[in-house]
Amino acid sequence: MAEDQMRITHGISLQTPTFDSRQDGLGIGNATPQISWRFLHDDLRIAGWQQKSYEIEVERRGTVETYLVDSPESVRVPWPSSPLSSRERAAVRVRSIGVSQDFKEPTTTERSAWASVETGILDRKEWRAQLITGQQETSLEKPIRPLLLRSSFEVSDVCPKISQARLYVTAQGVYHAYLNGTRVGDHFMAPGFTSYRFRFSYQVFDVTNLIKNGSKNILAAEVGEGWYASSLWREGRQIYGKDIGLIAQLEITFENDHKPLVVTTDASWEWNTGPMLASEIYDGETFDMAHEQSGWKTGAQAQPGTQWRKVTVLPLPSATFSAPDGPPVRATQEIQPQKIFKSPSGKLLIDFGQNLVGKLRVRGLYKPAGHRVIFQHAEVLEHEEICMRPLRAAKCTDVIVCSGDKLESWSPSFTFHGFRFVQVDGWSPEDELCPLLAENITAIVLHSDMKLTGWFNCSNEQINRLHENSVWSMRGNFLSIPTDCPQRDERLGWTGDIQVFSPSANFLYDTDGMIADWLVDLSLEQNEGNGVPPMIVPNVQFAKESRPPQAVWGDASILVPWALYTWFGDREILSRQYHSMKSWLDKGCSRGEDGLWTTSLWQHGDWLDPSAPPEDPGNGQTDGVYVADAYLVYVTGVLSQIATILECSDDARKYSDDHLRLKQVFQEKYITPKGMVMCDTQTSLSLALFFSLFASEDQIKNAGERLARKVRFAKFRVATGFAGTPIVTHALSRTGWHQLSYRMLLETSCPSWLYPVTMGATTTWERWNSMLPDGTVNPGQMTSFNHYALGSVSNWLHEYVGGISVIEPGWKVFKVQPIPGGTIRNADIQYESPYGLIKCSWSLDDASVFSMKLQIPPNSSALVFMPEMEVNPKGRQGTVFYSGRYDLSCNFHPDPWPPTPLETLFKPPARKATS
Ligand code: BGC
Repeated sequence: MAEDQMRITHGISLQTPTFDSRQDGLGIGNATPQISWRFLHDDLRIAGWQQKSYEIEVERRGTVETYLVDSPESVRVPWPSSPLSSRERAAVRVRSIGVSQDFKEPTTTERSAWASVETGILDRKEWRAQLITGQQETSLEKPIRPLLLRSSFEVSDVCPKISQARLYVTAQGVYHAYLNGTRVGDHFMAPGFTSYRFRFSYQVFDVTNLIKNGSKNILAAEVGEGWYASSLWREGRQIYGKDIGLIAQLEITFENDHKPLVVTTDASWEWNTGPMLASEIYDGETFDMAHEQSGWKTGAQAQPGTQWRKVTVLPLPSATFSAPDGPPVRATQEIQPQKIFKSPSGKLLIDFGQNLVGKLRVRGLYKPAGHRVIFQHAEVLEHEEICMRPLRAAKCTDVIVCSGDKLESWSPSFTFHGFRFVQVDGWSPEDELCPLLAENITAIVLHSDMKLTGWFNCSNEQINRLHENSVWSMRGNFLSIPTDCPQRDERLGWTGDIQVFSPSANFLYDTDGMIADWLVDLSLEQNEGNGVPPMIVPNVQFAKESRPPQAVWGDASILVPWALYTWFGDREILSRQYHSMKSWLDKGCSRGEDGLWTTSLWQHGDWLDPSAPPEDPGNGQTDGVYVADAYLVYVTGVLSQIATILECSDDARKYSDDHLRLKQVFQEKYITPKGMVMCDTQTSLSLALFFSLFASEDQIKNAGERLARKVRFAKFRVATGFAGTPIVTHALSRTGWHQLSYRMLLETSCPSWLYPVTMGATTTWERWNSMLPDGTVNPGQMTSFNHYALGSVSNWLHEYVGGISVIEPGWKVFKVQPIPGGTIRNADIQYESPYGLIKCSWSLDDASVFSMKLQIPPNSSALVFMPEMEVNPKGRQGTVFYSGRYDLSCNFHPDPWPPTPLETLFKPPARKATS
C-alpha cells in the first residue's frame, strides 16, 4: 500500500504489539507467536472506527517482510512469517487500516513502535548446561541450607564487541543469579512453581550489559529449596527430591560473526554455603550474618572457616524445560509501617495497615554477635496479640542472627509470607544504640507481575473497600500459581478456587499467560488420573493413589480455559486444553446410570456455606451432588460450544445432545413443574437460574421469586459457599430482583460481604466469619484471611454496578448495562480490554435522571442498554455503539428501596392502643 495514497487517522494509534499472552517477548516458547495490538484513543474524533485490514512488518536478520492481511482481527492474529528458529530474534510492527462512520474511505493508523520477540531454547538438545548441586547431608527432619554456586570465565580481549548475551536458567528449587556481582533480573521465587515431575520453567535474561569484555567474569547463583524441596502441605519435605541445584547457560555472541562463547553450569563450578541457614516457604528464613561471604559473587576467596568445594553434577531432570506463558513474580509495591506499638503482653508489633503477601526489608540493624532478631508474621490480632493459630504448622518467621556488624539491607530471599502484622523480638524503638525505626522496616509486596486492567469505584466507600479487598486477595494469591491462600501451610493451586474466581480475576488483571501456564500443569497431572484432575495443581499428593473426582474443582478443567477464551479471545487455549476438557467429561467424572453424577461420592459442593460447622466446611445446606449435577449439565453445554468453536463437529453434536439430555434428566430429578427446586436454598436456585437449567420462562419467574423469598427470609444475609457466592446476585438480577442483589450486597451483619469490611478486613476472608463479631478468630482449623473465592462477587459488581460485561470473545463486543440500585448513586468502571480502554461512568441524580459517559475502543463495539429498558421490556434489544465517546441519559426510577424483609410482609398492622 503506497503511503501517500492512504489518509492517516488522527486520534487513533496503536500500542506496541504483544506476542501470545506475554507482556514481553524475550524468551518466548513458541516459534509462531500470535500477535495482538491494542488501540490508543486519546481523541476519538473518528467515531465508529473499525479495522478492515492490517499490515504487519517482520524484521528478521536485517530483512523486513511486509504482510497485508484483510481481517478485522487485532487480537491474537497468526504469525505471518515462517516459524522462528530457536533463540531467534525478530522485530514486529503493525498498522491498522479501517473505516470510520464519517469517512467511508479507508484510513490507516500510524505504525506502532517496533516490538521485539525472541524465542527461548526451543529444542531440548540445545541445553548444554548440567544440573549442579553442593554435596550436603539432607534429612526430612530439617530444611536444606541454600547453596552458593559460582564459576568464572574469560572473555578474551581478542574478542570483538559483544552483540548480545543471554542467560538461560532454571533450578531445582528457587534461585537468584548474579553476573559480576550484579543481580540478574528482578524476579523472585524463579523459576516458579510448576509440576516439577513433568516440567520446569526457565527464564531468559538479557545480560549484555553485565559482561565485561576482555576480562574475567563471575557467574554466580544462590539456590534455595523453593517449592521443589520445602515442606508442602501434609506431604512433608522434599517431595520432588532432595537435590536442590542450578541449570544455567550463558550465551554470548560477538560482532563480525565471531564464534559465540557458551558458559554453562558444569563440574568446574564451586559451591559453598552462606548466611542463609534456612529459607523455607512456610517457615521463613534464618539469616546468620556471621556466615556472610563478602565478595563471593565477584570471586573473593572463602571466608575463614568456610571452603569453596567442587560441585556435584547430576543428570538433568527428565522433565521438560518450558518457557513460561505468564509474567514472573516481582516486587510490585512497598509499604511502610502504619503503627508500631506494644501489645498488652508487652510484645512489639508492627501494623502495615494492609494484609499483604510479600516480605520485609530491614535496614540499619546493628546488634552484638549472636543476638537474634525474630520477625513473626500474622494476618490478624486476637485479643490484641498476633494470632498465629490460623497459620497452622507454618512458622512464618524470619530470624536474623546478628554479627556485631551493621546490616545494611536484608530481605529474605526464598520465602514469602501473608501478613499485616509483624511481631518483632530482639529489637525495639527503645534500644539505645540502634533503635527500631519505622523507616528501617518496609513491607515488599510480591506477586506475579500481571498488568492491572480493571478499575471499579462507586459512591459507597464500603463497597469500594470490598472491591479493593478482592484486588488485594488476588494479588496475594497470584504468586506464580493461583492459590487458595498465601499464609498457612497450604498455598496451593486449588482448582475450585480459581474456577469460581476467574471471571473476576480476568477483569482485574491480565491473567491470560499466568493461568494458561498453570493449565498446562493441570492437563499434565490429569493425564495420570484417568481424566480426573487433582484438586490441587501442581499436585503435591501424587504419591497417593486415590483421586476421587470432585465437581466444581474438576470443572475448572473446562471453565477456567473457557473464561480465558471469553476474556482474552485466546482461542489457542481452547485447543490446547481440549483434550483435558474432554477427558474430564468422558472419563473423569463418575456418573450414575442416568448420566449425572454418581450419588455414591461425597462432593465438596457449596464448600463453606455459612451454615456448615467450623470443623466440617463441606456440610452446608445444599446437597453436594445437586451442585455437582448442576455443574455437569452446564459444563457439558460449554464443551459443546467449545467443540463448535474448534470445528469438531462430531463432538459438538455429541456434547450438545448430552447437554439437552442431561438437562432433561436434571429437570426430572430436581425441578417441579412450577419451578421449585428439590434442594431449596439460595445456592440451588441460583445454580439452576444461572446455568439455565429450567424448562420454561414460567419456571424461571417462579424460581426467581423463590430465590427472592429465600433472600428475604435470610434477612438479606448470604447463605452461599463457593458454588453459590459468585452467582447469587447474578441470579437475582437476571430475574429482575436487582434491589435484592443490592440489598444483599449492602448487608453488614454476618454472614455478608460487608461484614468483614465492618470488621476492618483489608483482604477477602476464607470464611464469612473468619473473625467472629467479638473479634476472636473462627475456631475452625481452616481460617484464612486471604482467600479470593468469596470475593467472586466482584464479577457482579463489574457487570451490574459498573455495567460492563463481555459478549464476544476478547471484548470484541461487550454489553453496557449498569443498573442503579440500593443507595449507590454513581459508579465508575474502566477496563483495559484487548482492544483498548473501555470506560463507563454513570450517576443518578435526585430528579431521577440517569446520566452515563461511555468510551468504546476502536475496532470493538458495545450493545448498550439504558436502565429504563430493563423496566420496559419492549426496549430490551439494546443499541449498538461503535468506538467513540458518548454522553447518554434517561429518566430512571429504580424499584422501591429498601426491599422489605420477609417477616415484615406478614407482620400484622400495628394495633392502636386501647385505653
Ligand atoms: C482450601 C480451599 C480448597 C479446599 C478444598 C482448603 O484447604 O483452602 O480453598 O478449595 O481446601 O478441600
